[in-house]
Amino acid sequence: MNILLLGSGGRECALAWKISQSPLCKKLYIAPGNGGTSAYGTNVAINPLYFSELKTFIKENKIKMLVVGNEDPLVAGITDYFHDRVPSLLVVGPSREGALLEGSKDFAKEFMMEFGIPTARYRSFTIDTLEDGYRFLETLKPPYVLKADGLAAGKGVLILDTLAEAKHELKEMLSGMFGTSSSTVVIEEFLKGIECSVFVLTDSNGGYRILPVAKDYKRIGEGDTGLNTGGMGAVSPVPFADKAFMDKVEQRIIKPTIDGLQTRGIDYRGFIFFGLINVDGEPMVIEYNVRMGDPETEVVMPRIKSDMVELMKAAAEGDLGDLPLEIDPRTAVTVMMVSGGYPGVYAKGLEITGVEDIAASGELPDTIPFHAGTKRDEKGRLVTSGGRVIALTSYGENISEALTASYNATAYVDYEGAYFRQDIGLDLCDQYAD
Ligand code: AMP
Ligand code: GLY
Repeated sequence: MNILLLGSGGRECALAWKISQSPLCKKLYIAPGNGGTSAYGTNVAINPLYFSELKTFIKENKIKMLVVGNEDPLVAGITDYFHDRVPSLLVVGPSREGALLEGSKDFAKEFMMEFGIPTARYRSFTIDTLEDGYRFLETLKPPYVLKADGLAAGKGVLILDTLAEAKHELKEMLSGMFGTSSSTVVIEEFLKGIECSVFVLTDSNGGYRILPVAKDYKRIGEGDTGLNTGGMGAVSPVPFADKAFMDKVEQRIIKPTIDGLQTRGIDYRGFIFFGLINVDGEPMVIEYNVRMGDPETEVVMPRIKSDMVELMKAAAEGDLGDLPLEIDPRTAVTVMMVSGGYPGVYAKGLEITGVEDIAASGELPDTIPFHAGTKRDEKGRLVTSGGRVIALTSYGENISEALTASYNATAYVDYEGAYFRQDIGLDLCDQYAD
């Protein structure tokens, strides 16, 4: 079948890599894709939010399945749009209502409350209830967590050390700091622990598969310091997410979420991303996302041995049945090379060299470079086009072995101002000898 994948990040490059390996995939198109996805399919210059242009493309190119990589089109209702207009199209991604699990933090918290899913204590406020917000902050201990209700490109969460700062920022947020995204703000209790990302593919009829667990490194600086980024690296599996922990995750979080969606009659065929925190061995939900993670996908897809197209097709058809999900026991890590200055201001259009030499050298057979912010310029040169540039994924028998390969691979890739964290996964190696 012909497949259209939406998005342009490292996540989509890893999805394209995996999809293109399936015997079920005849032609793969990626809209808009990046400088690396064109190795696995055909890039198409359509913005994933331009639904009617996508519809024309889908009809003209006999697309059978649409895989939505990023959240924006899902929150904007792309799944409902195509269910109504092209009912024969299989869509991997929740309905608009399902996408509210990511599109509205208030909706997500209220959903967790209704179904008894463990999460931080919270309340939501608007400008009309600002004073109540101040009173609620006074009942909490520092640090204070403020979250814009709507999508804010990963920037909508503030963690503040003092009550005065928290009150000030609450007022700023409610006064339009993140536009309408922060016209409602969720204030919640701060949870202390280590985070991990759990991914599930579900078919909206109670069927689900748990994909490999990953840990993401969000801060720009080593030792988890400095500004938040989209993610500077990832590791899978995660040593602390052992069987006992994952059993709790499944019983207390995954099953109640799947059941809750069914109880509410929400059509959800696609990926659920549970952003979890391990609080003294007890998993709690920090957030839901309604798509795969980035850079987690760059370690999750390489660890899936089964045919993802077969699994996604079954999920989109509403019946995962007894399709197996076979997982590679090896460790996968990814190290993200980013633009100098990211996540602040950075240059674009800088020439990138050496990516192809990683494979050509024959020295790193277990490394896969996934492109993120790259594109081909008018002369056909590979250039930077975003903050996160290349995710270097490697397999290994353990974290250190995989990391060594990814760090060796960084030496091949060159562009002005290249930066990457040199401590991805080291916390896991220190705590748990592997
Ligand atoms: P979110 O956009 O909800 O993922 O939040 C961004 C980051 O803020 C998370 O990955 C956590 O590191 C942190 N965070 C969010 N909520 C909390 C919380 N209740 N307690 C501690 N850290 C949090
Ligand atoms: N890596 C976190 C995210 O994709 O939201």
